[in-house]
Amino acid sequence: MRHPVIAGNWKMYKTIAEAVRFIDVLKPKVASANHCEVVVAPPFTALKAVAEAARSSNIQVAAQDVSWEKEGAFTGDVSASMLREAGCTHVIIGHSERRQYHHETDERVNRKLKAALAGDLTPIVCVGETLEEREAGRTQAVLERQFTEGFAALTAQDFSRIIIAYEPVWAIGTGRTATPEIAAESHRALRSLIVKQFGGEVAEQTRILYGGSVKPDNIQGLMAQEEIDGALVGGASLKADSFSAIVNYL
Ligand code: 13P
Repeated sequence: MRHPVIAGNWKMYKTIAEAVRFIDVLKPKVASANHCEVVVAPPFTALKAVAEAARSSNIQVAAQDVSWEKEGAFTGDVSASMLREAGCTHVIIGHSERRQYHHETDERVNRKLKAALAGDLTPIVCVGETLEEREAGRTQAVLERQFTEGFAALTAQDFSRIIIAYEPVWAIGTGRTATPEIAAESHRALRSLIVKQFGGEVAEQTRILYGGSVKPDNIQGLMAQEEIDGALVGGASLKADSFSAIVNYL
């Protein structure tokens, strides 16, 4: 049985004060959620304060990006060890917004994810096709390219520490969720790529989350799919009520 993960990606929302208030409100609402891991991904500025506010709770903290370098003259970048020190356990890598606005390529995703693993962070690696790619019937090919290049030159042991998030770009922030069946189809495609590259045992234990307009009213249908091992939630993770309703989907 794969232990589900419900993660909230706050994107560029919440000041430090807002973030800490949010954690104080969220904590009791998710305190008895043993059926899944709970992760929140605040902006860099709020990471340390959120990690402190979430200490001795079941809420874990993720960054939204990481540098592939350990240190150096890389203005604006933040290294894996800095994130660890701030209290992060996870890091989101290759989100479509970073691919779209910051020229994040599969090769960069690969380098960042190796840096995250070396820095003892759990990478949550995002993949997914655009609407144009889906309509051109290229979903499978896009996932295959993102997978092969993004996860190149990893051992099965490295790969077993990774969480994948399937986030079809056309479903992000649009209110247009993939149906559970469409999501599950892509998850199956991804899992068979894992089987090919890393073997059946690793594939069986890899968590594949779905992301894209996940809300309290569609989480149950998504989680009913055997292939879907959790969710990466954007908009609905910004309010404690809606995020806790998603965490407590059972
Ligand atoms: P929404 O839930 O707002 O569609 O965002 C999804 C997402 O991008 C999570 O990383």
